[in-house]
Amino acid sequence: MTHAPATRPLRSARPATGLTGTARVPGDKSISHRSLMFGALAVGETHITGLLEGEDVLRTAAAMRALGAHVEHDGSQWIVAGRGIGGLAEPDDVLDMGNSGTAARLLCGILASHNIFSVMTGDASLRRRPMRRVTDPLSACGAVFHAREGGRLPLAIEGAEDALPLEYDVPVPSAQVKSAVLLAGLNASGISTVREREATRDHTENMLRHFGATVSVKADGNARVIALQGQPELRGADVIVPGDPSSAAFPLVGALITPGSRIELTGVGLNPLRTGLFATLREMGANIAVHHPRTEGGEPVGDLLVSHTELRGIEVPPGRAPSMIDEYPILAVAAACARGTTRMRGLKELRVKESDRLSATAAMLSKNGVRVTIEGDDLIVHGMERPPGGGVVTTHMDHRIAMSALILGLAADRPVSVDDGAFIDTSFPGFLDLMNNLGAAIAPQP
Ligand code: S3P
Repeated sequence: MTHAPATRPLRSARPATGLTGTARVPGDKSISHRSLMFGALAVGETHITGLLEGEDVLRTAAAMRALGAHVEHDGSQWIVAGRGIGGLAEPDDVLDMGNSGTAARLLCGILASHNIFSVMTGDASLRRRPMRRVTDPLSACGAVFHAREGGRLPLAIEGAEDALPLEYDVPVPSAQVKSAVLLAGLNASGISTVREREATRDHTENMLRHFGATVSVKADGNARVIALQGQPELRGADVIVPGDPSSAAFPLVGALITPGSRIELTGVGLNPLRTGLFATLREMGANIAVHHPRTEGGEPVGDLLVSHTELRGIEVPPGRAPSMIDEYPILAVAAACARGTTRMRGLKELRVKESDRLSATAAMLSKNGVRVTIEGDDLIVHGMERPPGGGVVTTHMDHRIAMSALILGLAADRPVSVDDGAFIDTSFPGFLDLMNNLGAAIAPQP
């Protein structure tokens, strides 16, 4: 069962000089989860290089083992020997997905069309998050879900015996929901179709093709219609996981707001459906150059060169949200250190992340003397170049709130503390060392 890790209070102070040096952030979380899952559904071996070895992804690895796949860690490579579509075995015990919404929701899709019984749970944060957004559409394939009040985990899943193909118009911009439906469609006879009204990260579509599935994508104005041919034979594949742009965001904003900084972040994934933050920061005046753009494992990657810049406040349109949904807390930190006001519009989805990130982001800034308001689904931050700091931020089991607060501490007058940095390991193991090697001063709270 889920055991909460020991709390780890941390504190970040303004360094004497700017951040300098070169770093490589850990592998992309979205691609890491998918590489393990698709490897488990493939016939033959999948070799993964650069897998994110964070808690969230390790939960997926454990779940794939519990479902009968062979998952092995050999030096810098992870090797998965899969069971083939429809071939997963009934797990002996409850599947515990820890803090990871992506692991839980994508796995619901896979389990919905496997004729097995399973029970899924997660930590206190994940047990609060909505699951109906996947269980409702997945029920149409014949799966039966029994959930707690409000459709929350723990969840008992009776997978469909002969899954029907699905057709779904996703009402919220969510790559997790899109992916769950497509993954159920993998073991249904016939074509499953998903329509998304705004484009969200397309790793599922791209990677399923790489593993041998037939997936077509048609644009329909701003919308995309994705069609998947059911019951393909997925074949084990080689996956090279790029550096996670959502993790790169933290040292990157750290360098932008710390005077005298100049850093290089190598091998960062630059999939256009993930790089909304970089575009937004450039609109704020940020100096971010991409060196050596290249393609690795089918994904665009590059080395980012970033130096301290005086940022200015801007309006961030709601249409930007899907391409930077995880980056608003750290964008809010950049906005707090900018000249003028930044209005980030259309952030409804932030309320159902690892925490209510809209409230948690606002609280993080106001505890540190920054003027911030929430109007409907908009977050408005009044920049002040150098925030007072001195606050203790409640992280609500949310890794991105913890890291954002610690980055704020680099530019604030007084140190910024977090009540618990333990959850940073879910997505960014080694965050403290990486930041401190660049010259930050982040340490356990005495
Ligand atoms: C993810 C999709 C996003 C994102 C999450 C990872 C994925 O969630 O917040 O960190 O890998 O598909 P939503 O699609 O629900 O917005």
